[in-house]
Amino acid sequence: MPNKFYITTPIYYVNAPAHIGHSYTNIAADTLARYNRNLLGKENVWFLTGTDEHGQKIKKAADQAKLSPIEFVDQAAMQFRDLWSKLAISNDDFIRTTQSRHIKCVQKALSIVYEKGDIYEDKYEGWYCTPCETFWPKTQTTDNFCPDCKRPLENISETNFFFKLSKYQDWLVKYIKDPAHISYIQPASRRNEVLSFLENNKLEDLCISRPIERLSWGIPLPFSCKHVTYVWFDALINYISAVGEFDDKNIYHSVWWDKEVKVTHLVGKDILRHHAIYWPIMLEALGIRQPDTIFAHGWWMINEDKMSKSRGNVVNPLEMAEKYGLDAYRYFLLRDVPFGLDGNFSEEGIIKRFNGDLANDLGNLIYRTLTMIEKYYSGIVPGGGSLDNSGWDIKEKIGALPIELNDSMGTFNFSLALEYIWDLVNMTNKYVEETKPWNLAKEGKDEQLKAFIRLLVEAIRVVGQQIAPFMPKTAESIILQLGNAKINKTNPLFPRIEIKN
Ligand code: MSP
Repeated sequence: MPNKFYITTPIYYVNAPAHIGHSYTNIAADTLARYNRNLLGKENVWFLTGTDEHGQKIKKAADQAKLSPIEFVDQAAMQFRDLWSKLAISNDDFIRTTQSRHIKCVQKALSIVYEKGDIYEDKYEGWYCTPCETFWPKTQTTDNFCPDCKRPLENISETNFFFKLSKYQDWLVKYIKDPAHISYIQPASRRNEVLSFLENNKLEDLCISRPIERLSWGIPLPFSCKHVTYVWFDALINYISAVGEFDDKNIYHSVWWDKEVKVTHLVGKDILRHHAIYWPIMLEALGIRQPDTIFAHGWWMINEDKMSKSRGNVVNPLEMAEKYGLDAYRYFLLRDVPFGLDGNFSEEGIIKRFNGDLANDLGNLIYRTLTMIEKYYSGIVPGGGSLDNSGWDIKEKIGALPIELNDSMGTFNFSLALEYIWDLVNMTNKYVEETKPWNLAKEGKDEQLKAFIRLLVEAIRVVGQQIAPFMPKTAESIILQLGNAKINKTNPLFPRIEIKN
């Protein structure tokens, strides 16, 4: 079993500010990184995110902003970094495709594949979608509109360089089908989708260049001064350029891309094909091992429509985090929809989770427990006492929780992991209602009351530890409020949101 963990997010295009869809991938990756740091130690986890800064649409955005491309991407990358820090994203590195470490690595990778004979020059004719930066073969468009974004395509004829995807098709099918690689593409539905695509279509070689007259803002091909690299061949390399280098013999070295490490790519389902077809073949052609898992999550939709800049329905993640609190926002995204499926985003949805799970369940449990400690024991957690039967159920659940978390996090099931934690919260709240501590106090049953309070504290402490990867600030506050022996009670963590009609 690998004892190190390397997790990546897509690198985001900088032509537009991030919306909640982008923040979703980063919050999920952040939660996994934090969870694994707790499990494996900080030094054994590496979390990478970054920005994708080349291509025609970025050049266009720079022109519109009346800035040079580099000035524009510098500003935009700063905004992304700033956003991630405000959302408590704990990435260890931030890769930009305009950094020299990346450019060097892309050019080296291109040379290696070219020398190997897997890149050739040919005439290209086809339909091109500039906003998506994608070529569409004639067979895939019926009306000259982009099958993805539905905008008009441009008819193009030029000389370009092609990467021999077709040569590797059989290898890839075999690799994905190998039972040892059952968790290579996840969830299983996406694995089936990729396999059925590969089994029903003949892969066309991938055009990996653009003539410099049509696109000046890109990485020059090392073997043609008239061309720059297609954005995806440039962008995908970020996962290796950020953590390692090729040596003089064209062997790639990295402490984070080695057999000791579980390498995981989180992506949205929109870019599954690039990650599950182009990228594996690029790695194979470069003689580099495959990642362990490529997980494609679903989309956040607004009234059944995908959220995207082109549809004009984007929601600003910072606005949501400021309005409802960062941890409530993180909680909602991870809890409301099973990772992998699509979800509908609405503020009513956040408020429902906030008032229910956070205010009524978690906030209430902590506040009422600390209030009892103040009232009955002047703020000092009592020692001793003996437990009754329902207390032992809670003890058992406390012991089982780390295992439940391990299972659910191992399968990227954030919502289930949170359900497991909330099972304990709810059991403990029920325990308070059933035990009726106010009666124990009245009747002078001190031994029982002490054990009862101690168990509540133990349950809350475990909840505090286990929610840390999901809701880091809340976890910190819980642990702080519990104190060492003396508690430090604050206001309720999640005061109910009153809905005005
Ligand atoms: N630059 C490429 C990725 C290169 S990775 C080598 C790109 N960038 S993007 O800015 O368009 O970001 C796409 C990613 O943002 C998706 O894969 C997903 O992670 C996230 N999301 C964008 N919109 C989304 C939703 N509406 N819902 C959920 N996530 C979505 O593609």
